[in-house]
Amino acid sequence: MNDKTKILILGFGALGRALAHRHGAHYEFRGIKRTPLASAPCPVLLMPIMDAGIVDSLAWADHVVFCPAASTSDLEAYRATYLDNMVSIIARMAERRITPRSVILISSTGVYPESMEEFIDETHEPVVKTERQEILLQTERALIDSGLPYVVLRCGGLYGEGRGDFLARLADGRITSAMLSGQFVHFIHVNDVCDAIDLAISRNVTGEIFNLVDDSQIRRAEFYRFLSSLYGLPIPDGGSPPEIVRDRLISNAKAKSQLGLTLSSPRITDYLQRTAASPS
Ligand SMILES: NC(=O)c1ccc[n+]([C@@H]2O[C@H](COP(=O)([O-])OP(=O)(O)OC[C@H]3O[C@@H](n4cnc5c(N)ncnc54)[C@H](OP(=O)(O)O)[C@@H]3O)[C@@H](O)[C@H]2O)c1
Repeated sequence: MNDKTKILILGFGALGRALAHRHGAHYEFRGIKRTPLASAPCPVLLMPIMDAGIVDSLAWADHVVFCPAASTSDLEAYRATYLDNMVSIIARMAERRITPRSVILISSTGVYPESMEEFIDETHEPVVKTERQEILLQTERALIDSGLPYVVLRCGGLYGEGRGDFLARLADGRITSAMLSGQFVHFIHVNDVCDAIDLAISRNVTGEIFNLVDDSQIRRAEFYRFLSSLYGLPIPDGGSPPEIVRDRLISNAKAKSQLGLTLSSPRITDYLQRTAASPS
C-alpha cells in the first residue's frame, strides 16, 4: 500500500519538476498544467486549473502547491493566472468540502514595493504601488481569508536548473546601463524553495507567511557588473539608471528560524561562478 503524503502541484513547471526530483522519495506528486511535457518525473494531468475536472485531484491531495506562472507580461494574463485561478480552486474546495492539510502559495517578493524603507520582514504590511503587486496581494488575501490552512512563500527571483538564464539576458542586450541602479535585488535557488515547501509540510506549518530570499544582499548594479565580468560580455549603454531615494532589503530570518530552512545556495554569485566554471 502506498501511504506517502500526496502533493498536488498546480502549474507544473520548473519548480514542480525540481520539487518532484528533490523530494520524490518521500512524497507522491501529481502535477497540473495545460500543455504536454516531453518527460515528467511524476504523473502530470493536462487541464487548466479552472477546469471542473480539477476537483478529483484536489480531493486526492494532502497538500496543494499553487505555482502557475503567466507566460506573458500582460496584466490580464497575470490576473487570470494568479487571482482568478486561486479564487476558482477555493470555490471548488468550499463547494465539495475539500480541506487539504495545507495550500502553499508560491508568491513573490514583488508584493513589496521597491520604494519602501530599508528593512522588510513578514510583519510589514505592503503598500500597493502597482497593479501587478495588487493582484498578487489580492491572491494572497483570497487564500488567507478562505479559512483554508495556508502557507505563503514570498520568493525572490528564482535561479537554478531551468531558471534564471542570466547569460542569455546579457548576450541579448536585455541588461543595459540604465538598469545599473543601487537597489537591492533578491534571489532564491529553486532547490531552496523546494526545501521550504518540504519543511512547511513535514512540520505541519500553517497560517504563516515567509520571505524566501538568499543571503546575497546584493545591489542591482553590483550584480549586473558581476555577470558582465563572469561571462566576459559588456553591458550596453542604455542611458543612466534612475536615482534611488529609498530602498528595501528583504529579510529571510523568519524562514531560517521558524521554518528551519538551511540554504543550499546562500549566494547567487557563488552559484553562478561554480556553474560557469563547470557547466553540466
Ligand atoms: N521566476 C521567478 O523569478 C519567480 C519569482 C517569484 C515567484 N515565482 C513563482 O514561482 C512559481 C513557479 O515558477 P516556475 O519557475 O515553476 O514557472 P514555470 O516554469 O513557468 O511553470 C509554470 C507552469 O504553470 C503552468 N500554468 C500556467 N497557467 C496555468 C493554468 N491556467 N492552468 C494550469 N497550468 C498553468 C504552465 O504550464 P502550461 O502553460 O502548460 O499550462 C507552466 O508549466 C510561479 O508561481 C511563479 O509566479 C517565480
